[in-house]
Amino acid sequence: MTRVFVTRELPGGAGDGSPIARLREALGAENVDVWPEFDPPSREAFLERTEGCDGVLCMITDRIDTEFLEARPSVRAVAQLAVGYDNIDVPACTAHGVAVTNTPDVLSDATADMAWALLMAAARRLPAGRDAIEQGQWGQWNPTWMLSSEITGRTLGILGPGRIGAAAARRASGFDMTVLYTGHSEKPDFPGTFVSLDELLERSDFISVHVPLNDETRGMCDASFFRRMRRHAIFVNTSRGPVVDQPALIAALEDGTIAAAGLDVMTPEPLPPDDPLVRAKNIVLSPHVGSATLETRTKMAHLAVDGLLAGMRGETVRHLVNPEALNAASRR
Ligand code: DGY
Repeated sequence: MTRVFVTRELPGGAGDGSPIARLREALGAENVDVWPEFDPPSREAFLERTEGCDGVLCMITDRIDTEFLEARPSVRAVAQLAVGYDNIDVPACTAHGVAVTNTPDVLSDATADMAWALLMAAARRLPAGRDAIEQGQWGQWNPTWMLSSEITGRTLGILGPGRIGAAAARRASGFDMTVLYTGHSEKPDFPGTFVSLDELLERSDFISVHVPLNDETRGMCDASFFRRMRRHAIFVNTSRGPVVDQPALIAALEDGTIAAAGLDVMTPEPLPPDDPLVRAKNIVLSPHVGSATLETRTKMAHLAVDGLLAGMRGETVRHLVNPEALNAASRR
């Protein structure tokens, strides 16, 4: 008998062929335990519900670390419903022979769309326009009122030209933009020019961040980063909040070091309504919903189910993050 814990209800419903129905069919409904609440299980509840489990389908809100792996030695697979997996200690999973899978590719377009939604909303001052209407400040049409930034023909800097960065860059061709990029992927799948970080900051009118969160990227968008950007430039982040030094971003917006920002991710999440970021000047915020279309989240759930089932069987799948875990598992 193979048992799994799913840490939240999955998108896609529960009908035939849905992600959760596939899991129930593969393992038997009684062996699939789904956390029923909107908020994630507490650490205690997580440990309690995973007792005797072979696999976990988890989210970015669940911490998978050595303490968990030692407490739950029966777990053989962890399937993350996200492409980023900074909540999972992958080396520890590998050492314990636990396969880790994620959900790449299927969310690249939705997340790139969100980066563009933020870029365009910040450039064309959509929140300020709405505020003006709401506050009765919309007077007669005036040629100098609510002026904003042109997008067409300008320069987009992509920081992190991976799958999502590439999807964001490809969208720039519709706006006749010049695309610059910097980061580790050497041959990205879009037309653009590789430049140093300094050159990217100095030349870009818009900068969109698409890096994973790790020791190298944590806090990389700091005061010096913002100082090197152009004064009219707009900063967009749909990757992870801790990549940005948030007080430095707020200061850069307040003193006009940069023109505006659009963020889908921040620190902490959820962001309290009284956080200084909410009141910062020229900022557009969305609550970490880059991949949140019904279609994309359903595909992510299917991919996570595939990963969980394959991982527990010791099979390799394309989105297995740590193939070395399978060798370690065969020695268990
Ligand atoms: C991811 O996939 O990493 C997102 O941030 C969650 O939608």
